[in-house]
Amino acid sequence: MTTPSTEAARRRTFAIISHPDAGKTTLTEKFLLYGGVLTAGAGAVKAKGSGRSATSDWMELEQQRGISITSTVLQFPYGGKVLNLLDTPGHRDFSEDTYRVLAATDAAIMVLDGSKGIEAQTRKLFEVCRDREIPIVTFINKWDRPSRDPLELLDEIEEQLILDPVPMTWPVGDGEKFRGVIDRIGDQFIRFTRVARGATIAPEEVLEFDQAASEEGDLWIEASESVELLDSIGREFDRKRFESGELSPVFFGSALTNFGMRFLLDAMVDLVPSPSPRPDINHEPRDLDDPFSGIVFKIQANMDKAHRDRVAFMRVCSGKFERGMVVTHGPTGKPFATKYAHSVKGQERETIDEAWPGDVVGLVNANDFRVGDAVWVDKPVVWPPVPSFAPAHFRIARTTDTSRTKQFRSGITQLDEEGVVQVLREPGIGDQAPILAAVGPLQFEVVQHRLENEFGAPVELNACSWTTARITDAESADTLRGMSGVTVAARSDGELLALFESPYWLQRLEADHPELTLDKLIAEG
Ligand code: G4P
Repeated sequence: MTTPSTEAARRRTFAIISHPDAGKTTLTEKFLLYGGVLTAGAGAVKAKGSGRSATSDWMELEQQRGISITSTVLQFPYGGKVLNLLDTPGHRDFSEDTYRVLAATDAAIMVLDGSKGIEAQTRKLFEVCRDREIPIVTFINKWDRPSRDPLELLDEIEEQLILDPVPMTWPVGDGEKFRGVIDRIGDQFIRFTRVARGATIAPEEVLEFDQAASEEGDLWIEASESVELLDSIGREFDRKRFESGELSPVFFGSALTNFGMRFLLDAMVDLVPSPSPRPDINHEPRDLDDPFSGIVFKIQANMDKAHRDRVAFMRVCSGKFERGMVVTHGPTGKPFATKYAHSVKGQERETIDEAWPGDVVGLVNANDFRVGDAVWVDKPVVWPPVPSFAPAHFRIARTTDTSRTKQFRSGITQLDEEGVVQVLREPGIGDQAPILAAVGPLQFEVVQHRLENEFGAPVELNACSWTTARITDAESADTLRGMSGVTVAARSDGELLALFESPYWLQRLEADHPELTLDKLIAEG
């Protein structure tokens, strides 16, 4: 019988985290190829000036800059399972958005460039995963290029991320001489054959060790010695430690040539946990077979310029979602008819008729919905709040055309609700000149572009000298307002933020006035 728990058992919901250029887009494309969704040359996930059609770069700005800002959800079949890949923005400034996406995933693939190892953005995103105890599968990519010593890369993962890397495959050769991988579990050598531009699945040959030794010579000797070393120090996979985010299975390969892709995909099916009961705000898990519930993790407006609509992306947490069902929007208690439910693949939309735990549904015109909101049927639920990142960049926004003040206000409200930036207001100044707070400055460019293009409100964003924010309370806010070097502004979720120009001033204040509430926001620095 089909039940939410049997369907959940068939699902794997995950995201990819990586430093820009490590190969996330290429990997995504190859997943679709292996899932039978994308046929060779039919359309790439990201077109980089190559004239291919882009299926996940839909924002004008993204196309101009060639980066992926917005999150996309891709669903594809593999190995008898349904895989949901939640795409995370590649740019550093969008880690706040990534954080929200990671709130909706059960695992992540960390992609490293084999010639570079761990890079700044990898570390930052990894920390978000660590924070949420998300299991991580490591893929060391671009092995078809000259790469670093694989043992050295493992040391780097262990030392810099405090994560136990456990190679499941081991590369034989690198660069031009990348011959294939040793499957440590199956005790076999898998030799790959190159195909032009990796347009089709990489043909594989399975060789026993003796045969591999006689055919691959020195490359084989070097690789098998490393594998013996790994065996002797007991580098074995441990499911529990993987699921708690302490250990990461490692795969070597090349997304471009498809070498090693199958092992990575098999791992998503065999190792990654399927959706499990999600704990509510009181840490009580909601059973998968409970009535339908979902969590909103992303709001995206104006995806389709012609319709000026607004899509709330929701992950199903329990029960069965059926299009047309009337759900309750938790925070307002209002009913919402899910007439327009979509799965969104880049620019293409498909109406979705049903969805199960782990799946993502885009609800169109869900205007009251915010990130973190619960949606349910029959049995109410409230999810723990999705925390927001510590902003480190601030601007004061004003429209340069006062006849467009109304559009400016509604645009700011919209972008705030989508979480494009955090919007803060000082009492008495309020709506004409809100403070925009961001994790990285690229967020401001998006705000400016969208206010002008979608809302017709030209803006100027004036630099401010604040560098640090703390969460405070009403009582401390009164005291802080009487002090110099501090500004207190209210965020739209009701939190009061104290903004400081100098971290030293903040330190002094904390030392002199320990009674003041000045709480850190997450993921600072
Ligand atoms: P990203 O989404 O993480 O930013 O990376 P993306 O997949 O766009 O890959 C960045 C560059 O690295 C691309 O080259 C891509 O072709 C290349 N690449 C990805 N995986 C591999 C791999 O396994 N081996 C090799 N040799 N290269 C790889 P580009 O020149 O920027 O773009 P393109 O013109 O080739 O598409």
